[in-house]
Amino acid sequence: MSLYMQPKNLKFPFTWEERKPAFYKGVLIVPQYYDKHEEWRDEEGLFVSEKPIFIEFCSGNGDWVIEKAKQNPNVLWVAVEMQFERVRKIWSKMHNESVKNLLIVCGEALTFASHYLQENSIQEVFVNFPDPWPKDRHAKHRLIQRPFIDQLARVVKEKGRATFATDDPPYSKQMVAEMRSHTDWNNCFPDPYYIKDWEGYGHSWFKDLWQRKGRDFFYIQFERAPC
Ligand SMILES: C[S@@+](CC[C@H](N)C(=O)[O-])C[C@H]1O[C@@H](n2cnc3c(N)ncnc32)[C@H](O)[C@@H]1O
Repeated sequence: MSLYMQPKNLKFPFTWEERKPAFYKGVLIVPQYYDKHEEWRDEEGLFVSEKPIFIEFCSGNGDWVIEKAKQNPNVLWVAVEMQFERVRKIWSKMHNESVKNLLIVCGEALTFASHYLQENSIQEVFVNFPDPWPKDRHAKHRLIQRPFIDQLARVVKEKGRATFATDDPPYSKQMVAEMRSHTDWNNCFPDPYYIKDWEGYGHSWFKDLWQRKGRDFFYIQFERAPC
């Protein structure tokens, strides 16, 4: 019989000085403020799978990706979240709900995509309700901008898809503009390049919060163009 896990049962395995990339208790640790990512080798074969690999970046407490992993056992799901406190929540749910097809990454999305993923290896990527950074002077911190989209184009397979969901109108416009101006991505939805309703998309903590507050949603999807 397996033990019930609480988030606190996952301890961060390193001190700040000792930090390094490591696979620890089902979590790939991608250290922050670290300059030797390129030395990492996928010795455990974490990203070698006969199953298609689907990644959710910015997973928060993991509700959406846990639900998807349970619904789609023939996919290897990857949850990427940079806050360890939230990674612990995903980790305890993964154990308590016996989810076997999920790999958790504790790390920053652009760093992880740039240094830890092989080109042409990922079937689909999702970013659900990324931080909108609403103030103009903070907009530079938004994830979905050219450097990240370049990395998605590098790692996603031909005809693979990138899907973004947001409740933030300015960020939705930026997502569409960035993807449309990139030659490696073709829009899946016609002008205005988003849909507002997606039956069965799944639930996340922030989606449910914004739904209760009556916000509109923007779902944006692009397909990786042939090389
Ligand atoms: C608004 S929350 C959305 C969480 C979840 N997707 C949901 O819908 O409930 C954004 C999450 O993205 C994480 N995050 C923000 N920037 C990130 C980055 N560059 N790399 C990885 N995670 C990031 C935050 O820590 C936070 O948990």
